[in-house]
Amino acid sequence: MSNRFHCVEDFRTESKNRLPRLMFDFIDGAAGNEYASYKNIETLDQIRLLPRVLVNVTHRNLKKRFLEREWGLPFGIAPMGMCDLAWPGTDKSLARASLQHNIPLCHSIAASSSLEDTYERARGNAWFQLYVGASLEKAFSHVKRAQDTGYEVLILTVDVPQVAQRIRDLRNGFKVPFRIGLSQFLDFAKHPNWVIETLIAGVPKTANYSEKNPADLDSAASNGFIRDETRGKVDWNFLQQLRERWMGKLIIKGVLAPQDAVRIKQAGADAIYISNHGGRQLGSAPPAVTRLPLIREALGNNFPLIFDSGIRNGEAIVKALAMGADFVMLGRPFLFASGAYKERGVMRLIELLTDEVSLTLAQLGCKSVEELEPNMIIEN
Ligand SMILES: Cc1cc2nc3c(=O)[nH]c(=O)nc-3n(C[C@H](O)[C@H](O)[C@H](O)COP(=O)(O)O)c2cc1C
Repeated sequence: MSNRFHCVEDFRTESKNRLPRLMFDFIDGAAGNEYASYKNIETLDQIRLLPRVLVNVTHRNLKKRFLEREWGLPFGIAPMGMCDLAWPGTDKSLARASLQHNIPLCHSIAASSSLEDTYERARGNAWFQLYVGASLEKAFSHVKRAQDTGYEVLILTVDVPQVAQRIRDLRNGFKVPFRIGLSQFLDFAKHPNWVIETLIAGVPKTANYSEKNPADLDSAASNGFIRDETRGKVDWNFLQQLRERWMGKLIIKGVLAPQDAVRIKQAGADAIYISNHGGRQLGSAPPAVTRLPLIREALGNNFPLIFDSGIRNGEAIVKALAMGADFVMLGRPFLFASGAYKERGVMRLIELLTDEVSLTLAQLGCKSVEELEPNMIIEN
């Protein structure tokens, strides 16, 4: 019953029971001692909102204009590689949820579905997210594929010059492609439902690097995707080339320094995506939300800003919007939801967050998410 789930933590607990530890820890884990990941959530929790009264808030509007479109809700689905590890079919569920609720779905280049399949499922709600690996040509060939498929929005992620050390993954022996030793075998044996459904669906692969494309086959074992290869080539020069080639909207993800944000704006990006990758990259990174007002101030009021990292409820979404974000994304909560209760979990999560955002607006005396402002945040 989906009404067992009343908050993100309920989904997290259930998915922890249902998933092999190898998979749950890959999703839930973070860089180093995981302090950045923990601090993202705690800092958002500590921010206080000032209730306002005697406003008629019977009707509340959660629709949000962003990048010249109207979205059904002010939040969407962050790019995540290999979502089908959370449960087989997760990518499909996310695409259906994105259509049903008219929210953006960021399709990772490391996704378990191909960019073509996701576009067919989520149509114009799908945005393509690019990592640049060792080969710039391969990166540009993915960009061309996305453009030819019909994608109108490209996200370039720049905060993974190299995948960080994630202690849980190292301890569990998480590798792509998977290596099944004794401890992984025992872990899988304790989670037969996940194993059976995964075997029926086919073990997830990074589908954008398919056998069909010989250019991607520089490592047969990994079907072309090399998780640990350098992504450090992405620089200002690459950004300039990308801006010249990509005709659609360009978003740069993983920005925390106002100086970088200013330069990215000058380079012609259409939006900046503030994120510390959910604490999965630099263990000592600041809580992402603390950067939001600084970057908003540096860029002025009208430059489009997206925020993620640590959002676990509707009040946190409202806080980020009030502090200057135009749009908010969530990562892990969607995978916990799918792991806990498959597609019904994903739909339930969106319903929960929608209700929480709406209730928070009522408490703040707002009729619309467009009315949220920094002065609704107060010192505690
Ligand atoms: C399992 C997993 C895979 C991810 N893969 C990607 C990816 O392929 N590309 C990317 O830009 N970010 C990736 N991220 C980071 C998310 O886009 C997002 O920044 C982060 O999850 C936000 O923090 P939250 O999980 O606290 O909401 C991934 C995150 C998780 C949890």
